[in-house]
Amino acid sequence: MNVIRFSDLCAQGKAAGQRVFIRADLNVPQDDAGNITEDTRVRASVPCIRMALDAGAAVMVTSHLGRPTEGAFKPEDSLAPVARRLSELLGREVPLVADWVDGVQVQPGQVVLLENCRINKGEKKNDETLAKKLAALCDIYVNDAFGTAHRAEATTYGIAQFAKVASAGPLLAAEIDAITKALAQPKRPLIAIVAGSKVSTKLTILKSLSENVDGLIVGGGIANTFLLAAGLPIGKSLAEADLVGEAKAVIEAMKARGAEVPIPEDVVVAKAFAADAPATVKAAADVEADDLILDIGPKTAARLAAQLKAAGTIVWNGPVGVFEFDAFAKGTEAIARAVAESSAFSIAGGGDTLAAIAKYGIEKDVGYISTGGGAFLEVLEGKTLPAFEILAQRAAG
Ligand code: 3PG
Repeated sequence: MNVIRFSDLCAQGKAAGQRVFIRADLNVPQDDAGNITEDTRVRASVPCIRMALDAGAAVMVTSHLGRPTEGAFKPEDSLAPVARRLSELLGREVPLVADWVDGVQVQPGQVVLLENCRINKGEKKNDETLAKKLAALCDIYVNDAFGTAHRAEATTYGIAQFAKVASAGPLLAAEIDAITKALAQPKRPLIAIVAGSKVSTKLTILKSLSENVDGLIVGGGIANTFLLAAGLPIGKSLAEADLVGEAKAVIEAMKARGAEVPIPEDVVVAKAFAADAPATVKAAADVEADDLILDIGPKTAARLAAQLKAAGTIVWNGPVGVFEFDAFAKGTEAIARAVAESSAFSIAGGGDTLAAIAKYGIEKDVGYISTGGGAFLEVLEGKTLPAFEILAQRAAG
């Protein structure tokens, strides 16, 4: 996808002395006391901010936090904790500015954080008057918010329409590059792992991937519905019986292309959903009426690991078992280790997947870890994200 890259503008000296507006995704989880509990997104926003400062720009950064009511600021909606964390990471004070839509005081070499952009009336609906006001604040707009790239809001879309220059920040550009490498020009075989509790929430992803990938590994509750579709018993496991037809259609679509949805041959079951429930490995065909399938079995894990090690590209979304419970974590661990050991280019995304990657310490061995939750899922659905679309449009002139 052809977009103007902010890194190129900086390298060409075009950001010096300019007013640069960076839309980051600093929507991070906090505990009840307002402490940030996971700061990946704040850390991921730093390279773009540093790039702008090093280029001599006057830097404004904003983000949404949560889903506040527009026009009704509440203390818990404030980006104040993010401003503190950013100050630590940048090693300089990052002032937080409220009521900023009509003008921002910031000089070249300075950075300010603009308070939660979803407080502004018209943000969510991408109001044109608001978008024009935002565009007037800057000379260069930078979208570095991949996590929000699936939203067409005033700070992610409208401002890009009206700003003098609209560009992609380094994080957004890296995400575009990784996604293109994995899905548009993949080295084959391309294997996708799609796991999660429900087929219904990932049906469009499964359908879209079934037209592209060479192997589609399903896990979690999704795999249970596929086991049902393959005529296997699943006991009292979580599944969506009404979607068995859809699962069959995905299996058939893959078969017709000479591709495969590997159905687990063995599973790990328990009689209760609990960390200390005794775990039993059994053949998928032997699952009993009161069994709960909580992981893939060792034979299945070994077979899938071999496929992943031989892959050219791997796309990973979702753990294949209840990896939070050690007795049911071996399948997900085997998948994680296989992804890590494979020479394939791998891209992973989604909260649970990132938690599994962290649990097994394989961050450095995954080709690209996406910062997007919903945005990553929409990419897997085959959608063009609005933030990408408008930046490409602006780059085309
Ligand atoms: C996310 O956390 O996925 C992004 O920040 C987007 O948030 P939203 O779903 O509230 O738009």
